Amino acid sequence: MTHTIALSFEDGVTRFIECRDDEKVLDAAYRQRINLPMDCSDGVCGTCKCRCEEGDYELGDDYLEEALDEQELARGLVLTCQMVPRADCVIAVPVPSSACKTGPARFEATLSAITAHQDAALEVEFELDESTAAPAFLPGQYVNIGIPGGAETRSYSFSSPPGARRLSFLIKRVPGGRMSAYLDGARMGERLSLDGPLGAFYLREPCRPLLLLAGGTGLAPFLSMLEVLASRDVGLPIRMLYGVTRDQDLVLVERLQAYTDRLADFEFLTCVAEQGSSHPRKGFVTDHLDPGVLHGGEVDVYLCGPPPMVDAVRRHLDGLGVVPAGFYYEKFTPNLVITAGEEVSA
Ligand SMILES: Cc1cc2nc3c(=O)[nH]c(=O)nc-3n(C[C@H](O)[C@H](O)[C@H](O)COP(=O)(O)OP(=O)(O)OC[C@H]3O[C@@H](n4cnc5c(N)ncnc54)[C@H](O)[C@@H]3O)c2cc1C
Ligand code: FES
Repeated sequence: MTHTIALSFEDGVTRFIECRDDEKVLDAAYRQRINLPMDCSDGVCGTCKCRCEEGDYELGDDYLEEALDEQELARGLVLTCQMVPRADCVIAVPVPSSACKTGPARFEATLSAITAHQDAALEVEFELDESTAAPAFLPGQYVNIGIPGGAETRSYSFSSPPGARRLSFLIKRVPGGRMSAYLDGARMGERLSLDGPLGAFYLREPCRPLLLLAGGTGLAPFLSMLEVLASRDVGLPIRMLYGVTRDQDLVLVERLQAYTDRLADFEFLTCVAEQGSSHPRKGFVTDHLDPGVLHGGEVDVYLCGPPPMVDAVRRHLDGLGVVPAGFYYEKFTPNLVITAGEEVSA
């Protein structure tokens, strides 16, 4: 039996490897041409120390306390030269991918559909070649898509779930934007290159209520997450607030509505910031955030959208004096200045 191990590097690159039931993660990575940090490979030096963020594993007892002590063990730190997985795992590797002689995977896909939501957003779909495996990624992650005809790329979060052969993205129409202009005139059948998956903003194993906060096309990664949650029937309360600037920016609400049937305990609210809006809830996400959905901090908060929205929500949560047990965010920073973060207090 094999398990899938996601190696999430310090620079945001994620590589997936297969690890056998009787194999150490360090050896499995090496077999698949990824040189994880190591020195002794014998549980003595601690050089291979990483953090296991998800999944079950065994470490045995053939390593020294100097290499990994009890406190580190309790914090989820592992020695990859000793670690044998018992389930699929996500491992945070504290060095950039280039230090392990790897980097983002690159694949090509064919543009197959574009659906315009007025001047607000485009739903863009790609199909994979028959010979290309569906890209492995964690729900919430993104890829860098090359703009044909040049070397520039733009980052977009998958709105489709992992495993789907039809990849979809929800892309804001930015007036004068290079990618927006390309997509406006794009012909179906064109081939684009995609690099990834990337990013530390992904759905952790759900173990407490979830609060999902989306701004504009920051909805995209949540569509991927919700599909995964619906397929697993997690049964936990999931609350979502989806805020936009103008009425027409509110897209795919019917898709969110469908999740209220598919998920045992899912509710969502929308709001529109513009003063002239006809929407019943005017204002920002922060104006409609009922403190009850924070469960006194016993909640995992996922936050994604434009940088001012993400910063405003963070300030608002600070002001409420509630520290969520899990707090993950992604800013859709223009021009590839990547900011992803994670704060976990428990
Ligand atoms: C990790 C990450 C994930 C992302 N995921 C998504 C996603 O799923 N969907 C999505 O729509 N975007 C996403 N973005 C933003 C995306 O990468 C591009 O920045 C955006 O689509 C603009 O690209 P463009 O080529 O059309 O415009 P550009 O040619 O880059 O920009 C043209 C002009 O518009 C300004 N501009 C750029 N973006 C915006 C904006 N959002 N609002 C107002 N002005 C802007 C620029 O500063 C510039 O002056 C993500 C960004 C990051 C960092
Ligand atoms: S490589 Fe030395 S403890 Fe793992």
